[in-house]
Amino acid sequence: MASTKIQSFISNHRIALITTAGVGVTLLCVRRYAAGVRYTNTTTRLDGKHVIITGANTGIGKETAIDLANRGAKVTLACRDMKRAQDAADDIKQITGNQNIIVKKLNLASLKSVRSFAEDINKNEKRIDVLINNAGIMRCPYWKTDDGFEMQFGVNHLGHFLLTNLLLDKLKISAPSRVVTVSSLAHERGKMNFDDLNQEKNYDKGSAYSQSKLANVLFSSELAKKLQGTGVTTYSLHPGVINTELSRHVTQSMGWRMLLSVIKYLIKTPNEGAQTTIYCAVDESLSEETGKYYSDCAKKTPSKEALNDENAKRLWKLSAKMVDL
Ligand SMILES: NC(=O)c1ccc[n+]([C@@H]2O[C@H](COP(=O)([O-])OP(=O)(O)OC[C@H]3O[C@@H](n4cnc5c(N)ncnc54)[C@H](OP(=O)(O)O)[C@@H]3O)[C@@H](O)[C@H]2O)c1
Ligand SMILES: *[C@@H]1O[C@H](CO)[C@@H](O)[C@H](O)[C@H]1NC(C)=O
Repeated sequence: MASTKIQSFISNHRIALITTAGVGVTLLCVRRYAAGVRYTNTTTRLDGKHVIITGANTGIGKETAIDLANRGAKVTLACRDMKRAQDAADDIKQITGNQNIIVKKLNLASLKSVRSFAEDINKNEKRIDVLINNAGIMRCPYWKTDDGFEMQFGVNHLGHFLLTNLLLDKLKISAPSRVVTVSSLAHERGKMNFDDLNQEKNYDKGSAYSQSKLANVLFSSELAKKLQGTGVTTYSLHPGVINTELSRHVTQSMGWRMLLSVIKYLIKTPNEGAQTTIYCAVDESLSEETGKYYSDCAKKTPSKEALNDENAKRLWKLSAKMVDL
C-alpha cells in the first residue's frame, strides 16, 4: 500500500532526508540573514523634492529610484546609456504611477560629460534635495577613463567628486539637502596608494576597487566638514552583498560563474540592497547627522583608514587637482 511504501522509503533514506532538510533549513537561515534590514518607514513623503541618482538604470540604483518615486519625488536618472535609462524610466513610471521620472546622460568616465550634465541640471532644475552617488564599476581590466584615470578610481570616485562639487550651490539653496555616496564593505581592505592613485605601476583590480570605495567614505566625511553649517548633510554606506550586474567583469571565468550562479540565490536582491541608501536619503532621524557611514540601516564604524583625517584631506586636494576644479 502507498503508506507502507512511503514508510519504507523514509526508513531506507533516513540519513539522506535528514541531511536534505538540514541543508534546506540552513540555506533558508542564510537567505534570511543575508536579506538584511528593511527600511520600513513608508510614511516619509518626498512630494515636491528632486532626487538625482547616478547609475539608476539597473541594480540598486533603479530600486532606489522606484522607492523614492513611490514617495512622490521627481527623480532624475543620471546614466551613460540612454536606451537602458529610458527603458528603466518607463518601468519606474509604470510601477509607481509617478510620471516625473527624467532621464539625463551622464558618463562618469568622462569629465566633459560630468561637466555638461551638471551644467544642464544647474540651468534647468530649481533644486536638488538628494544627490545619490550610486553608479559603480568593479574589478574591470586595466581600463582608463577618457581623461586617462584608472577606470574604477575614475568612475567610482573622481567622477562623483567632480559631479558633487559642481552641484553644491544648487544643493545649498535647497537645504536641508543630502549627498548619499554608495561605498562598500570592500573599503575595509582598501589603502590609498597616494603615490600612484591610478595604479599605473602595479594594477590589481581588487585593490583598485577597494581603494575607490575607501575614497567614497573619505570623500563623504571630508565633504561633511566643508559643508558644516550649510544644511547639506552627507552619508556613505555599504549596501550589502547583492545580486546585481556589478559582477559583470568577474563572471568572465568559469569558476567564478559557477560559484555566482549558486550564491546569487543566497545574497540580497536589488530591492533588499537598496534599503540603506533609501534610509540615508529619507530618514528624518538622520537630518542632524553628517559625514557618517552606514550599513543595514544603522550607523557603522568604517575602517581605520577611512577615519584618517589626513587621508581625507590629501585625497580631496589631489582629486581637486586631477579633475581641475
Ligand atoms: N552589488 C553588490 O554586491 C555591491 C556591494 C557593495 C557595494 N556596491 C555598490 O553599489 C553601487 C551600485 O552597484 P550595483 O550593485 O547596483 O551594480 P550594477 O547593477 O552594475 O549597476 C551599476 C550602475 O552604474 C552604472 N555605471 C557604471 N559605469 C558608469 C559610468 N562610467 N557612467 C555612468 N554610470 C555608470 C551602470 O550603468 P550601465 O548599466 O550602463 O553599465 C549601472 O547603472 C556601486 O557603487 C557598487 O560599488 C554593490
Ligand atoms: C516615519 O517618519 C516620519 C517622519 O517623516 C515620522 O513622523 C514617523 O514617526 C516615522 N515612523 C516610524 C515608525 O518611525
